[in-house]
Amino acid sequence: MKKVKIGVIGAGSISEMHFNGYEKNPYAEIFAVCDVNEERAKEKAGLYKATKHYSDYRELLLDKEIDAVSICTWNHSHAEISIAALKAGKHVLVEKPLTTSVEKALEIEKAVKESGKLLQVGFVRRYASNTKILKSFIDAGDLGSIYYAKASCLRRLGNPGGWFSDKSRSGGGPLIDIGVHVIDLCWYLMGRPKVKSITGNTYRKLGNRSHIQNLSFYQAADYDSSKNDVEDMTNALVRFENGASLFVDVSFTLHAKKDETQVKLYGDKGGAEIEPELHIVSEKHNTILNVTPQVDYLTFNFTQAFQSEIDHFIECITENKETISPVQDGVEIMKILCGIYESSEKGMEVTFS
Ligand SMILES: NC(=O)c1ccc[n+]([C@@H]2O[C@H](COP(=O)([O-])OP(=O)(O)OC[C@H]3O[C@@H](n4cnc5c(N)ncnc54)[C@H](O)[C@@H]3O)[C@@H](O)[C@H]2O)c1
Repeated sequence: MKKVKIGVIGAGSISEMHFNGYEKNPYAEIFAVCDVNEERAKEKAGLYKATKHYSDYRELLLDKEIDAVSICTWNHSHAEISIAALKAGKHVLVEKPLTTSVEKALEIEKAVKESGKLLQVGFVRRYASNTKILKSFIDAGDLGSIYYAKASCLRRLGNPGGWFSDKSRSGGGPLIDIGVHVIDLCWYLMGRPKVKSITGNTYRKLGNRSHIQNLSFYQAADYDSSKNDVEDMTNALVRFENGASLFVDVSFTLHAKKDETQVKLYGDKGGAEIEPELHIVSEKHNTILNVTPQVDYLTFNFTQAFQSEIDHFIECITENKETISPVQDGVEIMKILCGIYESSEKGMEVTFS
């Protein structure tokens, strides 16, 4: 079978997971790398044996040999590059978040429809084995109707700096960066209900805490703590048309005792925790049971999930299949993220029709 020739656009931190995924997939070939930082593009092209490297994504897109691209650039460029790639006839795997506004998300959706090409949104947690296992239980009806979900991703000291804390490039702080993962996970497992109303609060109280010593944390490839105009912390209550609700809180900085990620779902027949570990809650013979599956990964495994995401992307291209994280889901998640920011700015609930 002819290999799918890949161009990776944006050769920073997360591109490593894409390169490794394509390298291990027998039907993919890493053909080109692009980064505005030409040295970085050249270095990654050498490391992953790519034939070409570019510093302008428009030149990469002119290359007729390239079938598909991974977009691993800063959030504010996702829409422009995705639309240009689709118009150039490439399939697209775009990192989360899909973009930074609902308007731009709808423009991407339009370009997908017009081009007939595949666009997969990098909602990597959907591809984790603990998510897939839980989804099979949910699809079989073990949780019944899910009416409440709770997601939390709290960092005490975890503002990555650089573009992440520059709103003009990131679109926002912890909500759009890490909240997007846990919100999407809940929404996907709840059966993608239509959003009805949102109440959100964002806070800028602690800043990036760059003065803190003796505690290390994740930093962007081009770390710079001098600019920070994103929120420290966000919480929100999302109500859906089917009556279900989702409560979420996320932070880059917070006076918390420890970092925590929790994702919990509650249905009328059973419940589940997916983070920090997969457990299913059920009842039998008038007794409540906590069920722990015997599996390789009870928690989110970064490497496994990315490999599965990349393999799925290649399989969808070669076998002309629908992706499990399509553009329309990216649009719905964008509505939730932007609705939370809008509600916080207005100081009131926002509603959707
Ligand atoms: N799925 C996940 O778990 C996950 C984790 C981290 C980051 N991400 C996403 O991946 C994207 C990149 O994040 P990162 O941590 O790798 O950032 P990064 O800063 O480490 O890397 C981004 C790279 O893109 C390059 N770049 C920026 N604009 C460009 C353009 N127009 N053309 C070509 N190159 C460009 C930069 O020079 C940089 O090398 C973001 O959208 C982020 O939200 C996803």
